Amino acid sequence: MLDTTHFPKATKFWHMGKIHPWSDLTLHPMVHALHYGTSVFEGIRAYSTPAGPRIFRLPEHVDRFFVSAEVVKMAVPYNKEEVTAAIKQTVRENGLESCYIRPLFYYGYGNLGLIPKASPVELVIAVWEWNAYMGEAAVNGIRVYLSPWRRTHHSQVDMRAKLGGAYVQCTINGLDARAQGADEALFLNLEGRIAEGPGENLFVVKNGTIKTNDMSESILEGITRTSVLEIARDSGIKTTVAPLANEDLVGADEAFFTGTAVEVIPITRLIDGSDRNAPRREVPIGMGKPGPVTLRLRQSYLDIVHGMNPRYEKWLTPVD
Ligand SMILES: Cc1ncc(COP(=O)(O)O)c(C=O)c1O
Repeated sequence: MLDTTHFPKATKFWHMGKIHPWSDLTLHPMVHALHYGTSVFEGIRAYSTPAGPRIFRLPEHVDRFFVSAEVVKMAVPYNKEEVTAAIKQTVRENGLESCYIRPLFYYGYGNLGLIPKASPVELVIAVWEWNAYMGEAAVNGIRVYLSPWRRTHHSQVDMRAKLGGAYVQCTINGLDARAQGADEALFLNLEGRIAEGPGENLFVVKNGTIKTNDMSESILEGITRTSVLEIARDSGIKTTVAPLANEDLVGADEAFFTGTAVEVIPITRLIDGSDRNAPRREVPIGMGKPGPVTLRLRQSYLDIVHGMNPRYEKWLTPVD
């Protein structure tokens, strides 16, 4: 049996049309994606609601999954309807009310030249219970580390894609941030403005207006980000989408991250390590504690994903 400490309640996964017991499959070490990161993935969540489990913004995630696959020129063996059905089936088979969902297309076993000419594209889908991504205490505010490494630029790689290999930068900097005593990293872009976290988009709040950046700033335009912008507008909170300067963050009343994994999480302290030649500096964001706009948006988001707000039921997909 495989150790599932970090995959709670995962009992089965889906691979190429079949459901397998969690401990079942062994991939050959010569799978193309293992060597070159030639895989694309999605991170999706299902939530318990009074009407049963619902997957948040599933069509949007499936659309992005296919855009990602196109970027790596994958001839995918399934269409969107089939992938959607397979995701729902995997959630059902695991009997989970609430879970994280990870579909992955990858170039499989065939050849090991950089060009995967004989490596078929395969699909695997796994689900497990993944509650607070950064631990329960994160709701009290996290500390981010502004990295000296700049985010990959949108002129270098198509930032619409959640491309396995491109996440090496996120892992390295996520580890570095933790080594610096922070909870998460934050990247500047090549222009020296703020880009995003390794798996999160950044918002700042100033005088009641929320502000975030867009793809022109070398970010993945997160689905949570788009949702939070819409929720804010619907709630009468002013929104701005424009580049974020370092001063926007340091001078903000509040700041928060959004992402499928973290949901909406307050940022209360910044460790600035962006200048390799200057001593790192730690400053509070705003009052150094979660602010009212962040907490309001977080609560609205959680209510919506848990099916407590009929206006946004359109964002929830049943699993059967
Ligand atoms: C680099 C990066 N930015 C932002 C996000 C947030 O995106 P979403 O809200 O779609 O999960 C993610 C997570 O998918 C990410 O990997």
